[in-house]
Amino acid sequence: MQLFNLFPLTVLQDSIRIEDHERIKLVNEIKKMRNEVKEEKKSNYAWTGDTKGHEFLFSNTTFKNISHKISEVIKEYLKALSINIEMLDIYYQRSWATYTENEQSINFHTHSQSNISFAYYLLKSPGAGGIIFRSNELQNEIAKNIFTSSKIEKSLINKPNPYNSDRSMFDLDQDSIIIFPSKTPHATMPNKSGKLRVSISGDITIMLKDSKGFEHLMPSFNNWTKFN
Ligand SMILES: [Fe+2]
Repeated sequence: MQLFNLFPLTVLQDSIRIEDHERIKLVNEIKKMRNEVKEEKKSNYAWTGDTKGHEFLFSNTTFKNISHKISEVIKEYLKALSINIEMLDIYYQRSWATYTENEQSINFHTHSQSNISFAYYLLKSPGAGGIIFRSNELQNEIAKNIFTSSKIEKSLINKPNPYNSDRSMFDLDQDSIIIFPSKTPHATMPNKSGKLRVSISGDITIMLKDSKGFEHLMPSFNNWTKFN
């Protein structure tokens, strides 16, 4: 007997080592952004720079080294999908920090305006909260809602595995990076470490250097015509 798993969702994990002095410098820079606005009451949700006016983190030269290292891993992700990166212009469309204090988390969302997204864990202790991916299109859903957690509780599903689950969690160590298609719904588990969790996230847009003969991928914006 042989089982085939067709049409997978591909998530890449790797690690990027940085020196402690660089980590401290980057965390301090992010703390400055976070502390620009003091909140009256602590939120249940993490602070995310993308919606707080800090969505272009990598235009700050302090982040040049880390953005370069992340670029190298993003290219590996594209290569894993067997995409010819020589034909592409690749951009960080947005990049930002997330700042998660104890008990805070991030709800399910997608980054539908881009192609590839990532999270790099700049500061993360054990228990600080993993990332969960969810699928809304379950290829193996032979009966509606058969794979919900209640079916596990009622022993209809013996054991959750990649064939019968609508979600999967990665609880990675500090210095890990995780890369995934931007359209994938994802969330973070609550930070239960009692310590600050800081990640760097970003959205990547790819476009064709030369779009001649191509219909679907975005043509280079160098050839776009702006309204006047
Ligand atoms: Fe996200």
